[in-house]
Amino acid sequence: MARDPAYQRFDVIPLTGALGAEIRGADLANDRDPALVAEVRRALDQYLVLAIRGQKFDVQRYHEAARRFGPFSGNPVHVPLDGYDDIVKFVREPSDTDNVIGDHWHMDLAWMDPPPGIVMLYGESVPPYGGDTCFTSLVQAYKALSPGMKEMLQRLTGIHSARGVYSINAKSKRLGLSIDQEKLDAVEKEHPVICLQPNTGRRYLLVNSVLTRFKGMTEAESKPIVDYLFHHALRSEFQCRVRWEDGTLTMWNNPLVMHSAIDDYRGFRRVTYRTTVEGWAQIAAPPETNHSVTGQAA
Ligand code: SIN
Repeated sequence: MARDPAYQRFDVIPLTGALGAEIRGADLANDRDPALVAEVRRALDQYLVLAIRGQKFDVQRYHEAARRFGPFSGNPVHVPLDGYDDIVKFVREPSDTDNVIGDHWHMDLAWMDPPPGIVMLYGESVPPYGGDTCFTSLVQAYKALSPGMKEMLQRLTGIHSARGVYSINAKSKRLGLSIDQEKLDAVEKEHPVICLQPNTGRRYLLVNSVLTRFKGMTEAESKPIVDYLFHHALRSEFQCRVRWEDGTLTMWNNPLVMHSAIDDYRGFRRVTYRTTVEGWAQIAAPPETNHSVTGQAA
């Protein structure tokens, strides 16, 4: 097992060459040292997705641990747990045959202003196999674009629309919705297409399932480019897959990845708790200085 020697406080084991790491030996429920949070944040900035094994949270401890990473981002869509506005419980029973929530490539709440910066999903009880979550890196997706494509996208602003988000969520019968369809369908938010993460200076391609068009262009005009970027971002070499265990806390750097829940565990129970941490207003990346449209990036 290849352990990353840059981390001393806990073991960090990379999942793939693109993104993702497993963490062993961190106890977020009981270790309240701010240095632990700082170290997990450092790993999250580096790997974008962390599967932190062996956590033992009750709801109160989960809430406390999450809030050490920052204030709640808000979630206008889902009915939260009683007494905990920042936590939503996702339950799937063995007999359920309706939609698995999140079973398509997406970014959580991408149409919010700003979108959540970190998503945390705690697996209290998960199937013995199946129900994995797949992730793809939008940093890798950006890097693999040609200089000409980067330059063209640099000038574009994406319109991210919540239209259809209500219907997708309404298909999951156990999920309470706290907003009406008309109101949600009307929400739109602009984000630059090529963004810069403020604390790391990393560039990423802000594409997801709710990117409907580019500012100043129609949906029909935008569609071929949006479709190209979406499929480009899903290349298998940009991906990792988290296999759950009871007590895994998976955290992801929400604007820098897309994720998809796999619907392959009928007959098994899966109980997870999601919370989110406030993010940042998306920042347009300045042009790269080390490439030209006639050559490869340096
Ligand atoms: C989500 O899309 O936020 C849920 C992912 C999962 O349940 O694996």
